[in-house]
Amino acid sequence: MANDDREKLSVSRRAFLKGGALATGALSSTLIPLGPAEGADRAPEATDLDPRRSKIELKVNGVAYRVDVPNTTTLATLLREELHLTGTKVGCDRMQCGACTVHVNGRSVYSCTVPAVDAAGTEVLTIEGLAKGDTLHPIQQAFVEHSGFQCGFCTSGQIMSTKALLDRNPQPTEDEARQALSGNLCRCSAYKKILESVMTASRLSRA
Ligand code: FES
Ligand code: FES
Repeated sequence: MANDDREKLSVSRRAFLKGGALATGALSSTLIPLGPAEGADRAPEATDLDPRRSKIELKVNGVAYRVDVPNTTTLATLLREELHLTGTKVGCDRMQCGACTVHVNGRSVYSCTVPAVDAAGTEVLTIEGLAKGDTLHPIQQAFVEHSGFQCGFCTSGQIMSTKALLDRNPQPTEDEARQALSGNLCRCSAYKKILESVMTASRLSRA
């Protein structure tokens, strides 16, 4: 492969793992953004005009938002369709695949089944919140180095679950890593490369 081609591949992989390359820009007409807010109140507030909607405040990747959402909206929908953070994927929409994994107050959750109103007053971390500018998070770097993905659909969920694992257990065994990521399915069956990525991420994160 020519050097130029290698460089392009490396750049596109980095962009992809930061959660940006597959952004669809899809917008929902039912959600109304109220803009950034200073803080995040804990309790959802009923809207004046429609009892089926609530105003909530939450922080996502360190940025505070106030949004007006239908009470039935999930956190995944809020992230993807309102805040345009499409690095979080929705595969099954029923707690089966782990593609939608994000952190809420430091705990990993399936955002496809968390009502957005339950995230009021919380701090949410998504794949877009890991890199610092152009510098990938060590976990993302490890996935690049080991090609820990094929189609990439499951990758943001795998990375968020890896982060949750390494936050509580910086030096996991391979069995512990397999167990921690058992809720993240990969339809490309890239599990060997994913496991190598997780073990390297553990080393990089401790360096
Ligand atoms: S989309 Fe949430 S677990 Fe599959
Ligand atoms: S890399 Fe394709 S689903 Fe995991």
